[in-house]
Amino acid sequence: MSDPLYEQEVALREQVLLNSVGLDIEGYKAMAPGREEKCEHFVAVFDHPKGERVVGTATLLAPTDDEPFAKVMQVCVDKQRQGEGIGTKLMIAIEARAFGEMGIPGLYCHAQLAAMPFYEKLGWDTASDVFMEAGIEHKRMQISAPKPAESR
Ligand SMILES: CC(C)(COP(=O)(O)OP(=O)(O)OC[C@H]1O[C@@H](n2cnc3c(N)ncnc32)[C@H](O)[C@@H]1OP(=O)(O)O)[C@@H](O)C(=O)NCCC(=O)NCCS
Repeated sequence: MSDPLYEQEVALREQVLLNSVGLDIEGYKAMAPGREEKCEHFVAVFDHPKGERVVGTATLLAPTDDEPFAKVMQVCVDKQRQGEGIGTKLMIAIEARAFGEMGIPGLYCHAQLAAMPFYEKLGWDTASDVFMEAGIEHKRMQISAPKPAESR
């Protein structure tokens, strides 16, 4: 969060996700004090002549005592850059971090129903009925870490 790109990350989250449900970053942080600081923050960065531009972002919350899977949150891509594969690259980076480096057994998210095809195309499974969050219908989606290749 001390990275200079954090300010752009927050602006993007507010534009694409938070403002539409009546929140800004302070309101989001107040919903779960300390969570923002606990997360790892991922940004997709575009090299622009005037400097780096954040065009996508997501956060990763480590597993807890009650939840063995890590939670992927705040996944969003600049509205003008959606459909270019940026979201997919972000999720691949998160899976590589979680499974390859942290040894986490799985990932989950609360997916807006409209975004479910995005996760399905990445191999994620639906793992709950519909529930409401921030006034929007969601389902839990998740993916388990790949099994290690069997040794012969
Ligand atoms: C959902 C989101 C993060 C996807 O990022 P993206 O960069 O646009 O996705 P990609 O370009 O990597 O798309 C990968 C595939 O998912 C599909 N996809 C992406 N978003 C989709 C959506 N909302 N509905 C249906 N399919 C979608 C794409 O068509 C693409 O399919 P293809 O490979 O067959 O062409 C982005 O569209 C976004 O920010 N949406 C608004 C915020 C949001 O809904 N966030 C998720 C909250 S749970």
